[in-house]
Amino acid sequence: MKVLIIGSEGMLGHDLVDVLSEENEISTTTIDTLDITEIKKTIKTVKDINPDVVVHAAAFTDVDGSESHEDLAYKVNVIGTRNVAVACREADAALVYICTDYVFDGTKGTAYREYDQVNPLSVYGKTKYLGEVCVKEILNKFYIARTSWLYGFHGPNFVTTMLKLAENYDSINVVGDQIGSPTYTVDLAKAIAELIKKPIYGTYHLTNSEHCSWHEYAQLIFENAGIEIELKPVTTEEFGSAAARPKYSVLENYNWKMEGFPPIRSYKEALKDYMKLL
Ligand SMILES: NC(=O)c1ccc[n+]([C@@H]2O[C@H](COP(=O)([O-])OP(=O)(O)OC[C@H]3O[C@@H](n4cnc5c(N)ncnc54)[C@H](OP(=O)(O)O)[C@@H]3O)[C@@H](O)[C@H]2O)c1
Repeated sequence: MKVLIIGSEGMLGHDLVDVLSEENEISTTTIDTLDITEIKKTIKTVKDINPDVVVHAAAFTDVDGSESHEDLAYKVNVIGTRNVAVACREADAALVYICTDYVFDGTKGTAYREYDQVNPLSVYGKTKYLGEVCVKEILNKFYIARTSWLYGFHGPNFVTTMLKLAENYDSINVVGDQIGSPTYTVDLAKAIAELIKKPIYGTYHLTNSEHCSWHEYAQLIFENAGIEIELKPVTTEEFGSAAARPKYSVLENYNWKMEGFPPIRSYKEALKDYMKLL
């Protein structure tokens, strides 16, 4: 298939290029070659490339920054996604839109399935959800892939942040009351590669299996790295971020399972593999 990856310089975008190029003909755009907030250019670019599938991994991803830059987050995550969806319709391409666990408010108490009620708490979560709405209103051929707590080689993430902090501090405060599933960008890219082989359009939760708090995640990172450091669990309120985050945003890969795909491996195994290569 001919696959266009929008946002190919991002953390996930890089791995999408690597993984999808194994079985597909790949084209890419970055913010320098295509700003998705420009509708005419977005339509022309997608039409000229004429892909079978567009994977849209571009976004304004600064969760806390979105609170003070609401218009920018809206412009990129909603208008930009609308533009990409319109371009896909014009080019008759299927779209993969990457979304987030932050569409949920975290009060369910058990893992979220694809059809559970969304209720984003933050500007980022709201804009990403509104991106989903645009995709559904404009297109018939779409896959919405909701994922969480991403880490990979091509962007700053929780793992690299923890390891950097350990260079300068003997003790680190880490949030202990938010639970989610850390997800390796390579594993997510592999799941997307499988999904787009079939016209099984719809919404999918795609995360590594099992879950933890940020504090437990940090413990595992330092255990894998062989670093001894004091990790103090703090509450969300004590940590004090600009954006509200769900307390329990574990996603169950329910539709993935119902389509007969094998479980995506545990975050513990994935993290170990990733850290061996750091
Ligand atoms: N990171 C996570 O933990 C996480 C969790 C759940 C879902 N997601 C979703 O997963 C996707 C990929 O995330 P990521 O972590 O790989 O993000 P990322 O590293 O921040 O990559 C996003 C890319 O989009 C580009 N971009 C921003 N504005 C753009 C515009 N107007 N036009 C074109 N490109 C633009 C960015 O360019 P610049 O860097 O130059 O601005 C960057 O290369 C996003 O949709 C995100 O919402 C991420």
